Amino acid sequence: MPTHSSLSPLLITAGPTYEPIDAVRFIGNRSSGRVGVELAKAAIEAGHEVTLLLGPGTVAPPKSLERQTGRVIRFQSSRDLERLLDEQWRGAASTLIMAAAVADFRMPAGSSPAAKLERTAAGLSLQLEPTPDLVAGCCARRRPGQRVIGFALEPAATLAERAGEKLRRKGLDAIVANPLETMDAPEIDAALIWADGQTERPGRNSKPAFARWLIQRLARTTDADA
Ligand code: CTP
Repeated sequence: MPTHSSLSPLLITAGPTYEPIDAVRFIGNRSSGRVGVELAKAAIEAGHEVTLLLGPGTVAPPKSLERQTGRVIRFQSSRDLERLLDEQWRGAASTLIMAAAVADFRMPAGSSPAAKLERTAAGLSLQLEPTPDLVAGCCARRRPGQRVIGFALEPAATLAERAGEKLRRKGLDAIVANPLETMDAPEIDAALIWADGQTERPGRNSKPAFARWLIQRLARTTDADA
């Protein structure tokens, strides 16, 4: 196992976003961050330098990464993650793996009350705005040699078609197409679809085994080209 980084630096995002609606409440999602954290572990084992942007309420980050200053950076909301990506994607990373489950909607800036909303007989309606597409923004401002890998979680029946459409719309280099049906399962049956349409299927795997496979595939194509 390498003891120092010899492969390209990776920036990995994982976990949900919590979008605040008042001083104590948020809109979140059920992402555990497990696949992103397994990717970080597999990348460290393979000898990559890794920076992990990790959302709230997730599985624990790799201990070896936590011990290094600035290698695990926690975020809460899509605004936090947007700010971190602005900084980090200008850095040394040559590949961004965007496994975070970013909320699609949030409260407009300045509109979430600083206090706790009171229960009233009239109920509560929230006016939400769409979040910016963070990974599409990273694709638009990548430097030559930087690559962006996205994720798509969709029902198996429409997975390939929807993942392909997301890959093109966001300008990704590749997308991990992940069937919604395996969301809470210990195993994963995902495909890696490249921008040229080439599709690779490692078959049904544990999440750590899938992570090792994906990191190897990315290293073979990036570091062999370099
Ligand atoms: N993503 C992002 N910013 C968002 C929403 C999603 O960067 N505001 C990223 C995710 O991290 C993932 C990819 O886009 O890598 C696909 O996420 P998904 O939620 O499936 O895509 P959406 O663009 O939200 O598409 P839709 O809501 O139509 O399913």
